[in-house]
Amino acid sequence: MATVVVTGRLPDETLGALRDAGHEVRAWEHDGPVPRDQLLALVEGADALVTLVTERVDAELLDAAGPGVRVVANVAVGYDNVDVPVCADRGVVVTNTPGVLEEATADLAMALVLMSTRRLGEAERLVRSGQEWQWGMQLLLGRGLQGRTLGIVGLGGIGRATARRARAFGMHILYTGRRDAPSDVVEELGARRVELAELLEAGDVVSMHLPYSAATHHLVGADELARLGPTSYLVNTARGPVVDEEALVHALQEGTIAGAGLDVYEHEPRVHPGLLELENVVLLPHVGSATVETRTGMALLAARNVVAVLAGEDPVTPVG
Ligand code: DGY
Repeated sequence: MATVVVTGRLPDETLGALRDAGHEVRAWEHDGPVPRDQLLALVEGADALVTLVTERVDAELLDAAGPGVRVVANVAVGYDNVDVPVCADRGVVVTNTPGVLEEATADLAMALVLMSTRRLGEAERLVRSGQEWQWGMQLLLGRGLQGRTLGIVGLGGIGRATARRARAFGMHILYTGRRDAPSDVVEELGARRVELAELLEAGDVVSMHLPYSAATHHLVGADELARLGPTSYLVNTARGPVVDEEALVHALQEGTIAGAGLDVYEHEPRVHPGLLELENVVLLPHVGSATVETRTGMALLAARNVVAVLAGEDPVTPVG
């Protein structure tokens, strides 16, 4: 019997799937991330780890787990919390959860597009404040999407699903990427691939949909925000550090860009204090994939990966 350590609360059916496969499951059963010292104790003797984005999977954690670990199944499509080279050196397979969270995350990206361009956070705060208000020609004027351009930085699964939604709102699509997207995708979306500088200059809204790595650290900084311009918006549902948060605060304060919608932060869960003071930014607590259906799908896919690797089979969705 193998021991699977699950580092956060997962739907019951996930633990059931692991137990049905004959494994012993040891799970962190409290809300919120497991404190690091308790995590190091929890993983001792594990054959498999099911991890969340809040856990750093590195040499220290693998050492604490011991030599039996064969697979790290990260319950997320992003895996920047996992030191993949260190895992590879030790022969530990790393898996993620692509293909199950695209639609939910794209819904949230589109919600942020609408919230920021139509100033819905401000509008809700006004009503909740109890201040007097009345319908007015100038009350909380935003900007419409029809005929505007959405720049997608990274046209992978989530980027494509976001672009599809934006098309239904009458938007034109530009995208950046290392290579052209498949021709059927380009045709469906009417999308054109451009360099980042052109995308920023032409985009009325720019939405980030790329993984975080050393290569994408601060991809959008002060110069890029200046290219975006005072009538345009930035949306980030990818990873905080792809945007230089200090530069973003400055751009929002100065009106270098019109607004932003954020679900992720550079030093998550800490939010830059400058952002908290601004009206022209919408702030969400990393809930892109937070639907019951999606979280269940992610957890079950992670469990399938564990079961496959422990059975000596190929993982379903290995990274890289
Ligand atoms: C992911 O899958 O990478 C998300 O950020 C977690 O929902």
